[in-house]
Amino acid sequence: MSYTDICREKAEHLKTQARVRILAIESSCDETAAAVVENGRVILSNAVFSQIPLHALYGGVVPEIASRAHVDAVDRMVDHALGEAGMTLEQVDAIGVTYGPGLVGALLTGVSCAKALAFALDKPLIPVNHIEGHICANYLTSPDLEPPFICLVASGGHSHILMVEDYGVYRLLGCTQDDAAGEAFDKAARVLHLPYPGGPLLDKLAQTGDPAALPLPKAHTPGEYDFSFSGLKTAFINATHNMEQKGVEMKPEDLAASFQHAVVDALLTKTMKAARDHRVRRLALAGGVSANSGLRAAFGDACQKAGIALYLPRLELCGDNAAMIGSAAYYRLLRGETADLSLNARPALRLV
Ligand code: KG4
Ligand code: ZN
Repeated sequence: MSYTDICREKAEHLKTQARVRILAIESSCDETAAAVVENGRVILSNAVFSQIPLHALYGGVVPEIASRAHVDAVDRMVDHALGEAGMTLEQVDAIGVTYGPGLVGALLTGVSCAKALAFALDKPLIPVNHIEGHICANYLTSPDLEPPFICLVASGGHSHILMVEDYGVYRLLGCTQDDAAGEAFDKAARVLHLPYPGGPLLDKLAQTGDPAALPLPKAHTPGEYDFSFSGLKTAFINATHNMEQKGVEMKPEDLAASFQHAVVDALLTKTMKAARDHRVRRLALAGGVSANSGLRAAFGDACQKAGIALYLPRLELCGDNAAMIGSAAYYRLLRGETADLSLNARPALRLV
């Protein structure tokens, strides 16, 4: 029997099993990660190698450096993940991997590694969309969370409001028309002379600042649930440069708090409107920006007032990791969404 036939049979069999343990690999951007996840909900191990120090020198991710660093780290991360889970490769039931969206060279490392493992071990190969992984980080944090719910995915590359109608069934309600929220945070942070990636540092600075210190414009978007952050970013950059030229001093804490308030306000207003209009009782946040303290607090207040249950990924699961890919892979396996060895990296892969 060919690999494809063997794995089709194995994948069918796994759907009936009470315990399915998936080894997952994530390498879409600047984190090389591997994890073992049981039944899409329980993390047995979660190894993450952050490449941030390698890229910080250049003020952003350098794709060529990222690809090389993934090649160096991926086997080590797989070994870490297996060791932490107390498992051998043979004991793993299937291999899940991020195949897009992301940097092509970076994705290729994870995809090649996952394909090699799947082929050598005769295990089903499960392709995962990175954005879906971020959403599934909530299944790992909140055992009671089930679709349907609304999810705001805000990361360095994406800002989407999605209706999660069922496992793997998504409807796009709105998305950014230009910059992603994380990208805007990072660019504003650069103006405040914070090192890359500035989002978390800007968040920290904002905690002691006055959010009303610098009034910033609200964006108008064609779609009622769409975002736009490029005008806000430009207004912030212009305001800080004007102040510098005129010798006007404003505390960096106040600038950070004002910018964060403007981004959070846009994300909150549109997402809460989507939740109200669609009469959902459950709302989840996902992606790197969901670690933002102002965003978490603002959604906490708004959801409490609206009687909506709020789901937040644990902080270590907000950024890129492989446990979230292992969760998404499990639900894909249940739907029979496995790949053969022709699987390729898809840098511009869409979720919907
Ligand atoms: O999801 P993620 O780790 O990678 C992508 O898939 O893009 O998101 C990274 C983004 C970066 O732009 C980073 O600055 C931002 O998330 N981020 C934050 C915070 N933590 C991470 N932005 C604002 N506040 C934070 N606390
Ligand atoms: Zn991500």
